Amino acid sequence: ATRVFSGAQPSADSLHLGNYVGAVRNWVNMQNEQGTDCLFFIPDMHAITVPQDPVIMTQRTRMTAAQYIAAGIDPEKTPLFAQSHVPEHAQLAWVLNCITGFGEASRMTQFKDKSAKQGADSASVGLFTYPILMAADILLYQADQVPVGEDQRQHLELTRNLAQRFNARFGDTFVVPEGRIMKETAKIYDLQNPASKMSKSAETDKGIIWLMDEPKKTAKKIKSAVTDAGSEISFDRENKAGVSNLLSIYSAITGESIDSIVARYEGKMYGHLKVDLAEIAAETFGPMRERVNELMADPAELDRLLAIGASKAREIASVTVENVYERVGFLPAA
Ligand code: TYM
Repeated sequence: ATRVFSGAQPSADSLHLGNYVGAVRNWVNMQNEQGTDCLFFIPDMHAITVPQDPVIMTQRTRMTAAQYIAAGIDPEKTPLFAQSHVPEHAQLAWVLNCITGFGEASRMTQFKDKSAKQGADSASVGLFTYPILMAADILLYQADQVPVGEDQRQHLELTRNLAQRFNARFGDTFVVPEGRIMKETAKIYDLQNPASKMSKSAETDKGIIWLMDEPKKTAKKIKSAVTDAGSEISFDRENKAGVSNLLSIYSAITGESIDSIVARYEGKMYGHLKVDLAEIAAETFGPMRERVNELMADPAELDRLLAIGASKAREIASVTVENVYERVGFLPAA
């Protein structure tokens, strides 16, 4: 079977539309494909690379798990777990730290962006080695495919390089994973600023659709999305970034192709598209939000599901770490 692995950080109370269509929705599709064997996790250790409030952090980890389940991840079938529950992530990350070049890590653009925002002195070393922990996440499970958005492409490339390097130096140990980046939805843009990606760390959230937003709020944000000069509904990323973004979102949620949507809206105005999309988004996310609230009402059950996921994950992860430790020449623990 094809092993599939991915995760989204618990760094906000809610996932946003970019996380959903760029990642989580594809996970659900892959889980339901024949011949795949999926694991999904919550990278809480990645979340603490920037300061977090501990109480909120705990809550967000459960919230993220609840959103995966509400979106269609079936925890009975697909292990779903918190990264910090599987100590092998930290163990493998250390070994990979030691085969990563300082210069190589310094070239990671997401680190450069995030550390520039925080100021070089307050950015943590954890933020610097973040991509190496991510490589450990993926390689621990011998993942074949990693469904992510465009912003993770460079991290995946690093992961592949580290896998190949380790294999060359110590003998075949890791599967070299492939990214699965869906062209149409790899990058969803901010509704108020269609030149930049929809991101949890944007300055305002007026252009961000949170899965947990009230349906009315979602509708309002879509209706006030920035569109472009002209009035024709067509897909043109360069000259019609706003409308093109709405078309991508529409297509991602409904599964209808962009061409077919464009054909149906011929002669109609931007407003029509927005009103319909607002309705579609509310219809999709409304029930999901209710399901999340139900799941959150029983945190003990969520914790139980995560514990089961972690123990399944450890069965795989512990074999990899044992193998890696042996290959690098660590004295076997008696
Ligand atoms: P994170 O938490 O920032 O985002 C989760 C997923 O959502 C995708 N995404 C988007 N896709 C389309 N348009 C957008 N505007 C958009 N914003 C985010 C991301 O590409 C990602 O797939 N480093 C990862 C988490 C991680 C991970 C891993 C992922 C840690 N270890 C191992 C896969 C495998 C991250 O910060 O994603």
